[in-house]
Amino acid sequence: MQIKTLEEYLDTYRRSVEDPIGFWSEIASHFLWKQPWQRVLDYDWDKPEFRWFDGAKLNITENCLDRHLATQADKPAIIWEPNDPNEPNRVLTYRELHQEVCRLANALKSMGVQKGDRVCIYLPMIPELAIAVLACARIGAIHSVVFAGFSSRSLATRIDDAQCKLLLTADGSFRGDKIIPLKEIADRALEMSETQCVEKVLVYRRTGSDISLQEGRDYWWHEMVGQADTHCPAEVMDAEDPLFILYTSGSTGKPKGILHTTAGYMVYTTYSFLNVFQYSGDDIYWCTADIGWITGHSYIVYGPLSAGATTVMFEGVPTYPDAGRFWAVVEKYRVNQFYTAPTAIRALMKFPLDFVQRYDLSSLKVIGTVGEPINEEAWIWYKKHVGNAKVPIVDTWWQTETGGILITTLPDVLLDRPTFAGKPLPGIQPILFDDDARVVEGFPASGKLGIRFPWPSMARTIWGDHQRYKETYFRYPQRYFTGDGALRDEHNYYRITGRIDDIIIVSGHNLGTAPIEDVINTHPNVVESAIVGFPHPVKGNALFAFIILKQTPEDTAALAEEINQLIAREIGPIAKCDKIAFVPGLPKTRSGKIMRRILRKIAAGQTDDFGDTSTLLNPEVVEQIQKTVQQL
Ligand code: WT7
Repeated sequence: MQIKTLEEYLDTYRRSVEDPIGFWSEIASHFLWKQPWQRVLDYDWDKPEFRWFDGAKLNITENCLDRHLATQADKPAIIWEPNDPNEPNRVLTYRELHQEVCRLANALKSMGVQKGDRVCIYLPMIPELAIAVLACARIGAIHSVVFAGFSSRSLATRIDDAQCKLLLTADGSFRGDKIIPLKEIADRALEMSETQCVEKVLVYRRTGSDISLQEGRDYWWHEMVGQADTHCPAEVMDAEDPLFILYTSGSTGKPKGILHTTAGYMVYTTYSFLNVFQYSGDDIYWCTADIGWITGHSYIVYGPLSAGATTVMFEGVPTYPDAGRFWAVVEKYRVNQFYTAPTAIRALMKFPLDFVQRYDLSSLKVIGTVGEPINEEAWIWYKKHVGNAKVPIVDTWWQTETGGILITTLPDVLLDRPTFAGKPLPGIQPILFDDDARVVEGFPASGKLGIRFPWPSMARTIWGDHQRYKETYFRYPQRYFTGDGALRDEHNYYRITGRIDDIIIVSGHNLGTAPIEDVINTHPNVVESAIVGFPHPVKGNALFAFIILKQTPEDTAALAEEINQLIAREIGPIAKCDKIAFVPGLPKTRSGKIMRRILRKIAAGQTDDFGDTSTLLNPEVVEQIQKTVQQL
């Protein structure tokens, strides 16, 4: 399954386009199936519907766990590094992980969870989070992991949307020098839940915080799981049975519950993991993401474990106890493949070089980034100081919706170049198209990025809203629309230039502007608001809110803080605005649409050249806004 040379890449790529069915069936033959598929692919762009390996039966956890027991039961599957470097770490071998997964799976069954039920997981980055994900998959329950940095409101919305029957959480979570009261947040979410769908809650003791358990609803993990059997037969799943739901921001409305199904997701995450990171033998692989995001699902849990790899899980943050933590961990475990986000690199770049140079990073063979475009300066710093000027960088482009990495370079196969993600993996057919949906051929070329042939790990629907799935991703005939802009150069490399919709990527997190504006607008003193992104040296983008007030108070700084607290409470701290300007008006077209283009320029510090403002209903407001911003 691994491509080792440029020639092999070119050959494999050609074959994947000429004969996708043959290509994917060869790759799929490397997995454990209970029954083979009847058809590799059935699809219909208009519905839209995509069915991969239809007719096949399998359980993804047998691929991630059972099949490794014969050959490498004692190999570490998960190495867990705690938030506090002085706390002992934990290592789970494949045998132990298998047992723990079965135990929890049995406990879930005893609590009434059945195939097809939704289970919400709201846990810190502890091994139990990975165990929980796999235990759900073991019994065919659909997991919905909610990042443990989200607020009660966000958790409640997600629980209601997916109609989760059970919630897995912890008493608290350690993050740097903070303790986050997870159970309290979860309790509030359950109170807010409109449908009251959650019947039972299983609570893991992590921080030892004082919490209360609600009789008949809440149970201690150690009590339920401790006595459970370590054998649990794997539920027989159809290839297209749902595996999980994961929420991602939409540019409008509520978050979208992206649905991934079993076989295609398994095949693609394993295939891409093995190629992008060139994992082999007893390598130690570490992805610093949280399992609350797709990166963690695909490249901490499913991809690496299905490939039989050793995957490191880190509970903490890059700057605790100091800015050398990542590199201390790389040295400690002799990490071979390291995968992180541009925002983390930019944050660490600001510290003295000694924090990196103190550690032996010679074990590294591949270093990767994901989540947003990586700027050239950060790329060069990463290459030079982490990669010793020679380790290949993989700048991997993909999305929650794509399930796995689609565009990247391959270590020692395709040359890495700053600001370019690279080329499609074999099996992926990117296209650029213009505003009239015409495909732009050749190079140099720029346009909207689309994918013109289905691939196994593509999202199958938005939970409960197939129409929205169709409108968001399939608004152009016969292709998948990514929402990103890109350009292609003479080497057929792609540079991702960023979102072309109202989604802003802040520190690698996807945020829709409309939902945040909706929250701001609930403040009694707010008339209207508009949010845009502006360049930020560490976060990549930060949020700038322009707000019209009913009455301007004496202390506008206090009001700004109050609004940010409101956002933190309703969405989560990641959605707070770096800058808030109280303005007399917003630039609007005659049809009432806010001209965000102008706000973006003002937010970026531009003072003139706002382009054509002739269609504005209120051109005078531009200058007024500028004045306010200058005074901030
Ligand atoms: C959006 C998807 C994929 C896991 C993490 C984010 C942006 C992602 C890159 C990259 C430039 C990137 C895109 C994409 N993005 N990776 N290497 N270079 N942009 O998943 O939250 O679903 O966000 O992240 O804009 O559409 P996500």
